[in-house]
Amino acid sequence: MVSVVLDNVTKKFGKVIAANELTFEVKDKEFFVLLGPSGGGKSTILNLVAGLERPDKGRIYFDDEDVTFLAPEKRNVAMVFQTYALYPHMKVFDNIATPLKVMKIPKEEIKRKVKEAAELLRIDHLLERMPYEISGGERQRVALARAIVRNPRIFLLDEPLSNIDAKLRVYARAELFKLQRRLGVTTLYVTHDQAEAMSMGDRIAVINQGKLIQIATPEELYHMPIDTFVGGFVGSPPMNFIDAVYKDKKLVIAGRYVITIPQNVMKIIEDLSLNEILLGARPEHVSINFDKTDPEDIEAEIYAIEYLGNETIVDLYNKDLGEDKIIKARIPWRFKDDVGRKVWMKFDKNNLYYFDAATQTNIFHLSAKS
Ligand SMILES: Nc1ncnc2c1ncn2[C@@H]1O[C@H](COP(=O)(O)OP(=O)(O)O)[C@@H](O)[C@H]1O
Ligand SMILES: [Mg+2]
Repeated sequence: MVSVVLDNVTKKFGKVIAANELTFEVKDKEFFVLLGPSGGGKSTILNLVAGLERPDKGRIYFDDEDVTFLAPEKRNVAMVFQTYALYPHMKVFDNIATPLKVMKIPKEEIKRKVKEAAELLRIDHLLERMPYEISGGERQRVALARAIVRNPRIFLLDEPLSNIDAKLRVYARAELFKLQRRLGVTTLYVTHDQAEAMSMGDRIAVINQGKLIQIATPEELYHMPIDTFVGGFVGSPPMNFIDAVYKDKKLVIAGRYVITIPQNVMKIIEDLSLNEILLGARPEHVSINFDKTDPEDIEAEIYAIEYLGNETIVDLYNKDLGEDKIIKARIPWRFKDDVGRKVWMKFDKNNLYYFDAATQTNIFHLSAKS
């Protein structure tokens, strides 16, 4: 088994820096997720690890072996793409067997290995079918079987579930995760879907514009996002951001709503001489009252109501917080009311996030750095 290390890796395509001085380690047997928006550089990282691209700068190691310039076929990694092209004219059995045939392995052994992989993925009853005779989810499993059949050192999975329909996807995630655990193969998994990343990753690396923004466990990422990008990217609907000014040991919103803050937050703001703060409040930490119950409640108007069955997302508006700003609240029941009604919103003080407006950085990270 194997760990993967990127040491200061840079890859450019013309003027685009697809990977910008990336340094991180994927541990042996880890399920490591690369998460970020489209165009961020996630696939480039996988291609570099697979050897399909060469870095302009930096080194890549599998354990202590420098593989930076090793040919792809000598790396023994298996890659599965979003468009997991199966050979349409070949039976499922032959699709899975292809990599073994290339390796000139004896027929009987190929049979045994294909059967083993197919059983593991519960597609052994489909071996005699053609790709067009099986479902999308089953085709995905065939592609995975083809990837695992030759015992690769590393799995590289590039959005492998995004072509499966939403209902099956949640199930497929769990299956894939269990499979990875059973095989114990170090895995780099690319997705732009934060829910997928959160539910599968041992650790998640957030990648944007070629840069590594943060590496953390799903819990850390949710509770301690390093900046407003991560705060806004992880969680759905996204975190609300509210402009505030630090004044007389309190935060003031829109020049008139005063929010008292914990002692430790106050200390960091003063130590760093910060003035403008972005307050982060997740929708699950915004509540709605019809009467003012607390001097820190903020008035708002119900702008829209989206009922989702198990919860309701309520859009709140107060033009003093910003002409175009909508604050989203997640209410865990059927919230039924009139759009346009005046209400009071309250932020859960135990669950607020504080960012320096100038650098967009979480003040707790700023304070740890200084
Ligand atoms: N072969 C290539 N030639 C030119 N530009 C590329 C190539 N591959 C990727 N890029 C560019 O590099 C950036 C990162 O792309 P990619 O790694 O595919 O991102 P992601 O997988 O996160 O969507 C994008 O701007 C993309 O257009
Ligand atoms: Mg990609």
